[in-house]
Amino acid sequence: MKTTLLIALTIFHQLSSSTATKDPSIIIVGAGVSGLTAGKILIDHGFHNLTILEAENRIGGRIHSVFFGDAFIDLGASFCHGQKNNIVYNTVEKLDLLVHSKNSTALYSSSGDAVDPAFVDEFFNITSSLLTESGDLPTPDNENISYGEYYTKYYTEIINERFGKDPAKLKLAQEGLDLLEKWAEGSDGFPSWFDGPAATDYQWNEGDEYMEWKGTGYQTFIYVLLRKFPDLQRVTAVERGVVFDKEVAKIAYDASRERGGVTVTCSDGSVYEADHVIVTPSLGVIKENLDEMFEPQLPLAKRTAIDSIGFGAIMSLATHYTGKWWGDDFAGVSLLWTKEDLENSAKEFPLGPHHNNRSWVTYTAEIMPCTRNPNVLRFWFNGVLVPEIELLSDEVLVDGVDFITRKFLGKDYNVTKPDKMIHSRWVANPHFKGTYSYQKIAAVRRGNGTNAEEELAKPIKTESGRPFVHFAGEATHPRYYSNVQGATETGIREALSIINYYSKH
Ligand SMILES: Cc1cc2nc3c(=O)[nH]c(=O)nc-3n(C[C@H](O)[C@H](O)[C@H](O)COP(=O)(O)OP(=O)(O)OC[C@H]3O[C@@H](n4cnc5c(N)ncnc54)[C@H](O)[C@@H]3O)c2cc1C
Ligand SMILES: *[C@@H]1O[C@H](CO)[C@@H](O)[C@H](O)[C@H]1NC(C)=O
Ligand SMILES: *[C@@H]1O[C@H](CO)[C@@H](O)[C@H](O)[C@H]1NC(C)=O
Ligand SMILES: *[C@@H]1O[C@H](CO)[C@@H](O)[C@H](O)[C@H]1NC(C)=O
Ligand SMILES: *[C@@H]1O[C@H](CO)[C@@H](O)[C@H](O)[C@H]1NC(C)=O
Ligand SMILES: *[C@@H]1O[C@H](CO)[C@@H](O)[C@H](O)[C@H]1NC(C)=O
Ligand SMILES: *[C@@H]1O[C@H](CO)[C@@H](O)[C@H](O)[C@H]1NC(C)=O
Ligand SMILES: *[C@@H]1O[C@H](CO)[C@@H](O)[C@H](O)[C@H]1NC(C)=O
Repeated sequence: MKTTLLIALTIFHQLSSSTATKDPSIIIVGAGVSGLTAGKILIDHGFHNLTILEAENRIGGRIHSVFFGDAFIDLGASFCHGQKNNIVYNTVEKLDLLVHSKNSTALYSSSGDAVDPAFVDEFFNITSSLLTESGDLPTPDNENISYGEYYTKYYTEIINERFGKDPAKLKLAQEGLDLLEKWAEGSDGFPSWFDGPAATDYQWNEGDEYMEWKGTGYQTFIYVLLRKFPDLQRVTAVERGVVFDKEVAKIAYDASRERGGVTVTCSDGSVYEADHVIVTPSLGVIKENLDEMFEPQLPLAKRTAIDSIGFGAIMSLATHYTGKWWGDDFAGVSLLWTKEDLENSAKEFPLGPHHNNRSWVTYTAEIMPCTRNPNVLRFWFNGVLVPEIELLSDEVLVDGVDFITRKFLGKDYNVTKPDKMIHSRWVANPHFKGTYSYQKIAAVRRGNGTNAEEELAKPIKTESGRPFVHFAGEATHPRYYSNVQGATETGIREALSIINYYSKH
């Protein structure tokens, strides 16, 4: 769907009068961006019998901006990915809310030295061509090859060719593979890059892929979307439809009923009846509760689709310092572990979990400054240890981050210990169970078939053909799964599915 919300609203404006008379009741499970978008469009088109049941005590779901230091930082979605065909970008484009990515190419070694600039240029030249769609990587001839296997193979070929005669550079380049892996795991959210295929259905968009909010956080997108911006005190109609602290435990659906057919039971025992339900909890929540959540069980094709899409996790962490020890021109550094330091890391920093003798502190790729937040630094943790890292005590987390910062930057900067720290716990939260979906090999489209996301997106219909159990949320988007743009479009899609049905019946 290339349409923007504005276009969607315009196209369907004329339907409002005919649809209002039917007044079906609609329950939306979840007040994340997909649920709120669906609710907003439905209300705008005269569907007023609408209830949004939200398990948490706030709207936004995986968009969660919190005030920290001098501005908002995001514990969930942070970046606006691309400037073309992106509903997020298009919605806020004229409001001057986003800044371009800094594109830092500074590279520090765990030895504490800045890496030789002559190598750095070549390294970023290779990695940027490998990691972007515009890059010159050939299409894999084996559709089942994993991301990790494929990139390792090509990267190794390239560096052997370029640095074969220069052992020092070759060693650096070999160590760089670990950084490449962390970038991939940070971006796709899988536990390991061997868990995902080399060729997925994800679509990158043209333009800056990592735009950031100017200190107001990703929540700003929701406010603009709900037409709440810039008067944030105003409570919109869709917000009035949200019931908080309502964890949905069961969705019973009866396909033989022409009206009604949906009975939603919450963990607190309350029961809601409706003609339609739009299910938006994360794929992690659906996977975890699959057997108990739906009655009857979801059809086999859907269960297979749910199985073939993975749900991983990254962790967002921010540190605050009483005094800024880095310069105004600091644009962030990428971290290159030497082979020896990596192998010794669990001995050198014994606190907290480790994997294959690697301490959890080695599972972060960068130290980044924070837009409009001068005394704050940002870290993303990724990979297989994230569920354990999330649960570490504040003391161990601060010690770990301080250890990395001093190890890499301690020679060139007078690093101080953070006085405050904040981080996400998405895996541990039963209302998320992770951060976002990724395609496993079995999810990818073969030939002209459907991919798993499309299968998951299909509404369940009554015997007479009325769609009544709808699925939205990032994991149901065939191309923009895993991101806010995708989640938003799925909310539009399911709202339109209901609006279209009543315009014809
Ligand atoms: C750490 C992190 C970083 C990310 N980075 C980016 C990024 O940079 N750019 C980007 O575009 N995207 C990013 N994403 C992804 C993006 O945040 C999501 O794709 C998007 O916000 C998902 O929206 P949604 O409506 O599909 O799901 P959600 O936001 O998860 O909404 C579902 C709602 O359902 C509620 N819920 C769950 N279970 C129940 C239940 N049983 N009963 C009632 N309610 C329930 C939840 O509380 C939630 O509010 C990131 C996500 C995370 C977590
Ligand atoms: C909304 O729908 C529910 C369930 O169908 C029904 O019980 C209720 O009366 C409706 N409310 C209004 C205001 O129409
Ligand atoms: C890498 O360098 C080559 C040769 O200098 C150049 O042609 C190419 O455009 C560069 N690629 C990237 C992605 O910067
Ligand atoms: C990829 O895996 C699928 C499912 O296991 C199989 O049917 C297909 O033949 C495989 N393709 C290749 C090129 O090996
Ligand atoms: C960083 O790169 C992106 C994509 O090429 C570009 O749009 C953006 O302007 C760059 N940022 C800066 C600060 O130059
Ligand atoms: C971890 O270190 C131990 C002892 O140094 C070694 O025997 C073992 O093979 C290492 N494990 C891995 C996965 O590297
Ligand atoms: C670190 O502190 C020392 C001692 O105060 C000072 O001489 C030095 O210039 C500082 N270095 C940086 C990079 O600020
Ligand atoms: C897929 O569809 C295209 C055009 O719709 C057609 O040309 C092509 O033959 C189809 N491929 C398969 C494998 O069905």
